[in-house]
Amino acid sequence: MKSAINIGFLGMGTVGTGAYRTLADNRPAIEARVGATLNVKKIAVAHPDLPRAVAIDRGVLTGDPYEVINDPDIDIVVELIGGVEPVKTYIRQAFAKGKHVVSANKELLAKHGVEVLTEASERHLDFYFEGAVAGGIPIIRPLISSLSGNRIDRIEGIVNGTTNYILTRMALEKREFAKVLADAQKLGYAEADPTSDVDGWDAAYKMCILAAIAMQADVDVEAVHPEGISRITERDFDYAGELGYSIKLLALAKRSNDRLEIRVSPTLLPESHPLAHVDDVFNAILVNGSSVGNVMFYGRGAGSMPTGSSVVGDIVEVARNICAGSSASAPKLCFAPTAVVPVAETVSRYYLRLQVGDRPRCLSNIAGALGDHDVSIGRVSQHEMADGLAELVLITHPCPDADLRRSLWAIEAADPDNAVKSVIRVEG
Ligand code: HSE
Repeated sequence: MKSAINIGFLGMGTVGTGAYRTLADNRPAIEARVGATLNVKKIAVAHPDLPRAVAIDRGVLTGDPYEVINDPDIDIVVELIGGVEPVKTYIRQAFAKGKHVVSANKELLAKHGVEVLTEASERHLDFYFEGAVAGGIPIIRPLISSLSGNRIDRIEGIVNGTTNYILTRMALEKREFAKVLADAQKLGYAEADPTSDVDGWDAAYKMCILAAIAMQADVDVEAVHPEGISRITERDFDYAGELGYSIKLLALAKRSNDRLEIRVSPTLLPESHPLAHVDDVFNAILVNGSSVGNVMFYGRGAGSMPTGSSVVGDIVEVARNICAGSSASAPKLCFAPTAVVPVAETVSRYYLRLQVGDRPRCLSNIAGALGDHDVSIGRVSQHEMADGLAELVLITHPCPDADLRRSLWAIEAADPDNAVKSVIRVEG
């Protein structure tokens, strides 16, 4: 049995620093749990001579990733660079050298996870990635192991901390999106380039990974059309609050016969919904299992130490497997290529905020245009505005997205005063 496990890091940014600190802070307990010492032998970074957030011996740092990948003494490669290439190549080269890999790379997993997992399994190597979804929240391993007796038909969650922080601040402070985003960037809660978070791609990657693990569905992430949060306004928060709803960026995957409905969109959730009060940078995932019913996982979905916690949990698991000679013994995942239901076919209730000319028949004309396209109104209220205009706020009964869009085109075409200001899905 091995008495020392050697680890090599590729990348030492925010998450790497959290993992390194966690290992350093809790070393005796961690090594006791593994039954061997854990030695960080090499760390490849872009700029080895720059000052670092954590004290690391300069001799351990290198600018060359191949000093990690090709080092015959390194047992586990921890990939924390992110993105698809050259990372996918590095991981495959590490596998070819017989190394187990831990990664927190959601984009790689969402786009090429099945390929990478298959290669690891064929080579009898471990590939663990708890940190790729929802930072510090344990969700991958519970889905693979604890809940494996269940058929899972639905997962929904708030899996992006940046957008949840922005929406929470907008709701509480009644401030516009651009200003809250600028503040979030100053505070370090949003990236300098926030596109992937704000436009919903980060959440889409994470939901594709969850769907793959929970539903064995190999989906094409490009077939998911996430909707971001940049068009939500303070008025929407006012009306949603009056109606008893929160607005969240909801990521959802649910089986629809042999296809998968998988979407990411701003969503009104009733105050009684378990996800409605998941606020600030927190994430939560609600899993519905056939035997267990609803289970909710809640915690910090991003950040150095929380995500570092998940990465170290994976390192411990892989190291234990090495010591026990049981690598690649994780339950088998059998993925089936699964089509994504086109957005036009998805059915939900919708919240609509419409500007109309405040004249006789305006309400009946709007109701008529919706009815002509089989869209039925559940709730409606009218709010007077300046200049002979009014704002109509409606919640529809469930309808296909395509029918709703057609009715909204008809409404805008019917009168120059008509304007569709907001269209937001309603769940729960
Ligand atoms: N940018 C992500 C978020 C964290 O805001 O949740 C890493 O996945």
